Amino acid sequence: MGRRSPRCSSAVFWLTALLAGSSQASPILTAPDLIRLVESKLNGLPSKVVSLFLPESSQPPAGSTSRCKVYPGDANWPSDETWAKLNDVLDGRLLTKPEPQASVCYNGPLYDAEKCANITATWSRSYDHFGDPIEMMSPVAQGMTCLPPNVFDTHNCSRGGFPMYVINATEPKHVQLGVNFARNTGVRLVVKNTGHDFLGKSGGKDALSIWTHHFKSLEYIEDYVDENVGYSGPAFKAGTGVQAFEIYKAAGEKGRTVVGGEGETVGIFGGYIQGGGHSPLTSLYGTGADQVLSYDVVTAAGDFVTANSTSYSDLFWALRGGGGSTFGVVTSVTVKAHPDCTTTASRFSFNSSTIGNETFWAGIRAYVDYFIPNADAGTYSYFTIIPNVWTGVIQFNMSPFFAPNKTLAQTTTLLQPWLTRLGDLGIKVDPNITEFSNFYDAWRSSFPLEVVEKINATTASRLFPRTNFETEEKRDELLDNLRQSTENNRVQVHFNIKAVDPANADNAVNPAWRPNILFAQQAVRWPANGTASEILKIRQEFQTSDMQRWRDISPGAGGYLAEADRLEPNFGQSFWGSNYPRLLRLKAKWDPHDVFFATTSVGSERWKVESIDGLPNENGKLCRVEQ
Ligand SMILES: Cc1cc2nc3c(=O)[nH]c(=O)nc-3n(C[C@H](O)[C@H](O)[C@H](O)COP(=O)(O)OP(=O)(O)OC[C@H]3O[C@@H](n4cnc5c(N)ncnc54)[C@H](O)[C@@H]3O)c2cc1C
Ligand SMILES: *[C@@H]1O[C@H](CO)[C@@H](O)[C@H](O)[C@H]1NC(C)=O
Ligand SMILES: *[C@@H]1O[C@H](CO)[C@@H](O)[C@H](O)[C@H]1NC(C)=O
Ligand SMILES: *[C@@H]1O[C@H](CO)[C@@H](O)[C@H](O)[C@H]1NC(C)=O
Ligand SMILES: *[C@@H]1O[C@H](CO)[C@@H](O)[C@H](O)[C@H]1NC(C)=O
Ligand SMILES: *[C@@H]1O[C@H](CO)[C@@H](O)[C@H](O)[C@H]1NC(C)=O
Ligand SMILES: *[C@@H]1O[C@H](CO)[C@@H](O)[C@H](O)[C@H]1NC(C)=O
Ligand SMILES: *[C@@H]1O[C@H](CO)[C@@H](O)[C@H](O)[C@H]1NC(C)=O
Ligand SMILES: *[C@@H]1O[C@H](CO)[C@@H](O)[C@H](O)[C@H]1NC(C)=O
Ligand SMILES: *[C@@H]1O[C@H](CO)[C@@H](O)[C@H](O)[C@H]1NC(C)=O
Ligand SMILES: *[C@@H]1O[C@H](CO)[C@@H](O)[C@H](O)[C@H]1NC(C)=O
Repeated sequence: MGRRSPRCSSAVFWLTALLAGSSQASPILTAPDLIRLVESKLNGLPSKVVSLFLPESSQPPAGSTSRCKVYPGDANWPSDETWAKLNDVLDGRLLTKPEPQASVCYNGPLYDAEKCANITATWSRSYDHFGDPIEMMSPVAQGMTCLPPNVFDTHNCSRGGFPMYVINATEPKHVQLGVNFARNTGVRLVVKNTGHDFLGKSGGKDALSIWTHHFKSLEYIEDYVDENVGYSGPAFKAGTGVQAFEIYKAAGEKGRTVVGGEGETVGIFGGYIQGGGHSPLTSLYGTGADQVLSYDVVTAAGDFVTANSTSYSDLFWALRGGGGSTFGVVTSVTVKAHPDCTTTASRFSFNSSTIGNETFWAGIRAYVDYFIPNADAGTYSYFTIIPNVWTGVIQFNMSPFFAPNKTLAQTTTLLQPWLTRLGDLGIKVDPNITEFSNFYDAWRSSFPLEVVEKINATTASRLFPRTNFETEEKRDELLDNLRQSTENNRVQVHFNIKAVDPANADNAVNPAWRPNILFAQQAVRWPANGTASEILKIRQEFQTSDMQRWRDISPGAGGYLAEADRLEPNFGQSFWGSNYPRLLRLKAKWDPHDVFFATTSVGSERWKVESIDGLPNENGKLCRVEQ
């Protein structure tokens, strides 16, 4: 690279070009197409079978009154022949019982000691999992039924919360056929992109999964105009399988940036963007969902539609913040592209070992004084506070302080007051403030590859608003609460960001993001070998103690639905605030039969996974909650 980028404010024009994939019209099915396809593939079959693939009729779908979704052993469970027909209409794209990755570690036909050793060695890296048809990066949500024994010995390998059938979709029609089949049979449907979701919302026992990972097209649009959303400028149209490392690279090559997460492998155009999505660029441009100009989506009725400001505009509103796996399956997303710019980053750390706890916390307290000015300056900081139970040492990591559109000098000026106070306290740090000529190089150099597949932890989150930082007293109160969490052995991960939306997009993003100054996460850990009831008790007490303290000092605020705990109480208010009633109405309109479900999604109160061990995971049947 080495090219020096202009400031974020100046416009650069590049020729429209195709980056990857192709721009061919997406093969989709209208109702008559679908009937023709099914008839040609299923010639001579009884109409009862043919009807399983057709769009919604006036008939209520199968299972619309039964207590649970349809499962193996139920009279309505499709026969093997019927599943084979689904594979036929999909031109062979149906995967039957894909094996869990760790099955190579257990007795059976797939046992392979060397493969097992290999996957064990890199098990905590997302690169080894995102391309798998079923793997979820949260084994806790999967039900812990098949892990490499040296990670956690599950004694044998069973499917647990993994789905049974997977559609390896590459065209909208594959999605349409899958949605129709699930709706018409009553089989549980799940949608999987990368499997990053903290709550494991891409899985479900004995479900049919639509796997969106191979929607990889990416197109640069030089001038996208939509007066209704007040945007005229460059855009990218991305297939929903495009990931952070791909879009950032492609954007950089065009002299652009796109709002996406910090994590390298996150699926930016699947769960991330529909759920809101925070970014190293959020303090400048708002959330991921605020960038969306248009979605292509398959609805619960099996229709393929474009949702934008003039077409299916209510669906467009809901899909920008309302969460994944709720209103439809998105196949592509068009987002704003911003000018690339000089970006400065700084990474450093300190710990309590030589300075002691009081000085350590005084250093953190000094930092809290700068949260408002740092967010208002458009910066993003990502820091952790981690207690070591064995040594009693507390570790602070700034990884990184990230300043898009700021030079080395500007960033140094911004950090100096806090660094001076750290020096006065006797806390030595080497901030190593580094300027990069563009966003991509800064991002690549500054962020850690996070550990995934944790076996004994769950994270919960809170969006602390500006009011928590406006007075000395409020800042003291916040610090006391972070400290209390450390003393209770919580691992904390924080983002000092704001998510104002310069374009004032009207969408379903949690209104609690708008006044946010500190997006705070804390994780509870438990003995991995604990019994189900011990683990449940620890998880419940985490919500009633540490999380409740955080809620008590931020009344009316919320949490972030994609980095949250399945046990978040009153999740509708927490994840969507005042938008929740409208989202519930739109769920009833666009998915009246609950074809789509994910734990803690809009309308999910009506259902519950009846897990085998009673823990909050996907290893059980999805059934209605008695009302
Ligand atoms: C290492 C790591 C780093 C992260 N960094 C960030 C970050 O910087 N900022 C941030 O905001 N979040 C971050 N997250 C959280 C991330 O946003 C969520 O995990 C998000 O759900 C990922 O979306 P996905 O599509 O990749 O994952 P999946 O787990 O595959 O899907 C998530 C949810 O979206 C649904 N879904 C996926 N694709 C579609 C689709 N095409 N149509 C309909 N529904 C769909 C799924 O059914 C599921 O409910 C991070 C997570 C991890 C594990
Ligand atoms: C980037 O910085 C320049 C100069 O300080 C400023 O004029 C511009 O508004 C900034 N861009 C954004 C998107 O904040
Ligand atoms: C295991 O990893 C090594 C080193 O990367 C590689 O050479 C070998 O082929 C792998 N073995 C299997 C069975 O995947
Ligand atoms: C797998 O292991 C679990 C726990 O040890 C046990 O309850 C279950 O019966 C085993 N299943 C099989 C198929 O062996
Ligand atoms: C899924 O489809 C893609 C694209 O056709 C193909 O490259 C990949 O091998 C398929 N994956 C599986 C597991 O079948
Ligand atoms: C929205 O999508 C429809 C259907 O593709 C299209 O006709 C219309 O022009 C789009 N609206 C805007 C504002 O781009
Ligand atoms: C803790 O800080 C001390 C003093 O700066 C340093 O020597 C030590 O390496 C640090 N320990 C860890 C685990 O970072
Ligand atoms: C400072 O940061 C740069 C960029 O991330 C890195 O290449 C360099 O190794 C760092 N230097 C030190 C001493 O940590
Ligand atoms: C410092 O705090 C940690 C974390 O709460 C605790 O484990 C440790 O005992 C404390 N150290 C001292 C000397 O009080
Ligand atoms: C939690 O799991 C980690 C490994 O993932 C392990 O190091 C730690 O000891 C476990 N904690 C408990 C309390 O079991
Ligand atoms: C879990 O492991 C610890 C340490 O090995 C042991 O003391 C404890 O009894 C085990 N608990 C259970 C439920 O097996």
